[in-house]
Amino acid sequence: MVTMPLKWGSRLALLCVLLVMAAASAAAQDALFSSAAKQKAESLLKQMTLDEKIGQLNQASGIVLQGLADEKPDNLIVQGRVGSVLWLNDVHEINRLQHLAVEKSRLHIPILFGFDVIHGYRTVFPVPLAMASSWDPSVEERAQHLAAEDARAAGIEWTFTPMVDIARDARWGRIVEGAGEDPYLGAAMARAQVLGFQGEHMGPESVLACVKHFAGYGAADGGRDYDSSYVPEELMRNVYLVPFHAAEQAGAGSFMSAYMDLNDVPASGNHWLLTDVLRKDWGFQGLVLSDAFAVQNLQTHGYAKDPEDAAYKAITAGLNMDMASETYTHNLAKLVKEGRVSETYIDQMVLPVLEAKYDLGLFDHPYVDESKVNTVLDRPEGLALERKLAGRSMVLLRNEDHTLPLSKGLKKVAVIGPLADSTQDIEGGWTVEGLFGPSGKSHPVTVYAGIKKMLGSDAEVTLVSGPVPSRLYPGLLDQLKGVKMSPPPTPEETADWITKVKAAAANADVVVAVMGETADMNGEAASRATLNMPGIQEQMLEAVAAAGKPVVLVLENGRPLDIRWASEHVPAILEAWYPGTEGGDAVADVLFGDVDPGGKLPVSWPRVAGEEPLYYNHNLTHEPEDQPGFTSRYWDMNSKPLYPFGYGLSYTTFQFANLRLSKASMAAGDTNEVSVDVTNTGSVAGDAVAQVYIHQRYGSASRPVRQLEGFKRVSLQPGEKKTLTFPLGSHELHFWDPQTKKWVVEASEFDVWAGGDSKASLHAGFAVTQ
Ligand code: BGC
Repeated sequence: MVTMPLKWGSRLALLCVLLVMAAASAAAQDALFSSAAKQKAESLLKQMTLDEKIGQLNQASGIVLQGLADEKPDNLIVQGRVGSVLWLNDVHEINRLQHLAVEKSRLHIPILFGFDVIHGYRTVFPVPLAMASSWDPSVEERAQHLAAEDARAAGIEWTFTPMVDIARDARWGRIVEGAGEDPYLGAAMARAQVLGFQGEHMGPESVLACVKHFAGYGAADGGRDYDSSYVPEELMRNVYLVPFHAAEQAGAGSFMSAYMDLNDVPASGNHWLLTDVLRKDWGFQGLVLSDAFAVQNLQTHGYAKDPEDAAYKAITAGLNMDMASETYTHNLAKLVKEGRVSETYIDQMVLPVLEAKYDLGLFDHPYVDESKVNTVLDRPEGLALERKLAGRSMVLLRNEDHTLPLSKGLKKVAVIGPLADSTQDIEGGWTVEGLFGPSGKSHPVTVYAGIKKMLGSDAEVTLVSGPVPSRLYPGLLDQLKGVKMSPPPTPEETADWITKVKAAAANADVVVAVMGETADMNGEAASRATLNMPGIQEQMLEAVAAAGKPVVLVLENGRPLDIRWASEHVPAILEAWYPGTEGGDAVADVLFGDVDPGGKLPVSWPRVAGEEPLYYNHNLTHEPEDQPGFTSRYWDMNSKPLYPFGYGLSYTTFQFANLRLSKASMAAGDTNEVSVDVTNTGSVAGDAVAQVYIHQRYGSASRPVRQLEGFKRVSLQPGEKKTLTFPLGSHELHFWDPQTKKWVVEASEFDVWAGGDSKASLHAGFAVTQ
């Protein structure tokens, strides 16, 4: 089919409501840092030498590890040449370094300690992809607020969170660290995390948030971590940048530049990203930190000639602080002396660093109270909150014949799979314990332990773990630590495990298989070419299913996996992601019906890796897939997701009805109100997530077949009905027009759907007029 070009003369009468976003948002925004902090920073700056200023732009490694840092930063700190330190979790060491800065350096400027507090500190919450599955931003906010309290108690004032990269490709390992594929959901989760860490205003209890990885990192070619991203401006503005902008508007104090090239210009030296969009369009007043070694890496990209050129390109692009590479430390002074970078410009780069330190209270209280650390970190309310939030994050993918919930009267349960009793996997990646080794202070609950606790001593709960699957190539940390990957099981070992699981299944009333990926199989440098369940897990699953007993598959993983076989043969599948410290208890709560699973998928679930990238909010550039002759985009496989974006079952059922709009037609700039009734039509209480999708039928650009523009998670008793309303105004209807390069709301017709996932069929429509 040939698409007719839209002729300029015959263009639709479009009313472009110019949302001069930048100016408006910058003007409406409160100042990021207080005026007191600004005044103090200005006056401190006047006393600083050039080297001391450049020192504030250097973030040094707190640990000595081959490949990371050769020595401790003590001397540099005393010389006033370190503004921030990262990768420390030891409060004594934090205080020791802070004493050097505050007592031994000329101007006594405290160090800002940064660390990746991604989903909790000692109490580990579900991984971010799981928290996004709650479709409840308050889950993120509460978890990150507790994480912030813990982090401050442990001496951490800056977290490299939230990761808000849109991920449309499950092969990309870092999909686990973000909120999935959707800009609207991603923006909600981004805002919630910034509020959780920083509060409404930056203060002595806040942890400075760092929004990363700016920007387009999730679009890596082939899902291969660090590979180039090619994302046109309209896709950046309409999709990839949306959660970043939301975080910025929520008051995030810092951003982290990404590793990869964006349209051939490395993100860490990308003036368009760091200055034109972030500072000029959005009015950002905080600081930008590079990702680790990313300034030095500008040379690897073939972008900078040498380290001096790398420093020049990064600082002039708008990057304030160099993480770990010391490229600024060794080169910025020369650039200033040569007149290539002005000292006034350096001053502008330094000020937000000092302002953040003042507002975070570091000048008044630079040290951690070591006597209080454990009391804070071991608060039982943290664990109780974690269990609750983990339960809210799980997604029930399949439940044939009401296999779930299980009866608490069960007497014999076989729990199988390599993740069933793995304390190191239930919390997922990016944990303090995972990074620094077990401290003996954290006690994660596995699914096996959770089920045993739930059933008590009367029940026989048998564990058959099976061989732990291993990566073919080691992950980042394992490489640094020199850990070797274990070889796959031999055919004899495999046969032995299969015999064991069959026997356990034969002897059980129910089998719970806990399978997926070990925590190091996703995250940074953890991309995959396939999405199968690694190792012999699927063989074990097929063996137990053949025993004829009810089987429940509990998935622990950081990305959708190829579960085509299970989706047809295993009656119940619960996606638990990595549910955190209390994860096993939370899984048991759901399996035995104490908690109704109300989570929904934040990603379209592919059948196989070959379907990726896969996302629901694509354009329609040819006949619909389900029309005769165009049955599918692939001839060898159904090209639709196995489970759609927004999908998730519950122990009850919900009916969505009575979709209505306050206006059949409205002027651009007005707001329409969507209402829909949601009724719990089942016999138990549960949570529904009402989702509203829109589609603009025609205009100056093709628009996605559907895009999420509203959602609410509500609890409903059996028979209870709630009417939910959602605004559709400029913010929901606008888009970045690739032709005029402006934000517009166009005169057009719009479809609206409301329901329980992105396939919702309840439909209404309205028009926007001039
Ligand atoms: C990661 C960042 C992280 C930083 C500091 C980098 O390798 O890409 O996400 O914040 O390390 O640990």
